[in-house]
Amino acid sequence: MMNETQSYPLLFSQEQIAAKVSEIGAAITKDYAGQKVVLVGVLKGAAIFLADLARQIDLTCTFDFVAVSSYRGARKTSGAVQLIKDLDHSVEDRNIILVEDILDSGLTLRFLQRHFQGHKPRSLKVAALLDKPAGRKEHVEADYVGFPIEDHFVVGYGMDYAEHFRNLPDIRILPESAVAKIDAEPHK
Ligand code: IMP
Ligand code: MG
Repeated sequence: MMNETQSYPLLFSQEQIAAKVSEIGAAITKDYAGQKVVLVGVLKGAAIFLADLARQIDLTCTFDFVAVSSYRGARKTSGAVQLIKDLDHSVEDRNIILVEDILDSGLTLRFLQRHFQGHKPRSLKVAALLDKPAGRKEHVEADYVGFPIEDHFVVGYGMDYAEHFRNLPDIRILPESAVAKIDAEPHK
C-alpha cells in the first residue's frame, strides 16, 4: 500500500536529517567537553529529534521534558504560550540544552528561556532542528540550528498538524489538500 504522505513534497530526507543531527551532536560534544548536560525536550514535537540527538552526544547526559501549548491545532501561533508540564528535576547549576523541533515566531522559546532562567541553570543553550527566520516575532535565536527553511508548514520527524504525521521518518511540506482533509474529520 502506498501511503499518500509520500506524495507530499519532500524537504529533508531521513539521510539528510541523520547527517545533520550527527553534526549537531558532534558540536555539542566538543563545546561541552568534560561537562554534563541536561537535554530538555519540548513535547511532543522534539521527542524524535531528542532521541536521535542524544545518541550522537558523547557526554554524561540526562533528559527532561516540558510541554507547552500555543497552537491548538492551527498552523500559526495564537500568541499565548502556556506551560502544561514543567521539568521533573532541578536544573540549578546545570547546563541545559533546550531541544526544539522548529523555531518560528520565537514566542515559545522566549517564554521557555524566561521560565528556565528562574530555575538558575549554569548555562542555557538551544538546539533547534529547523528555523523559520521569516516567522520571527521575538528576537531570539538558537545556538545550534539544523536547517534554516522558508516559511512553509512542515510535518514529520516529530512535527505535526493537528497531531497527525509525527511518525513520518522524513520532513515534508504539508499540502493544502491534506489540511482540508484533516479539518473535515469529525475528531481531528
Ligand atoms: P514558535 O513559538 O512560533 O516559535 O513555534 C514553535 C513551535 O510551533 C514548534 O515547536 C512547533 O511545535 C510549532 N511549529 C511551528 N512551525 C511549525 C511547522 O511548520 N510545522 C509543525 N509545527 C510547527
Ligand atoms: Mg513543538
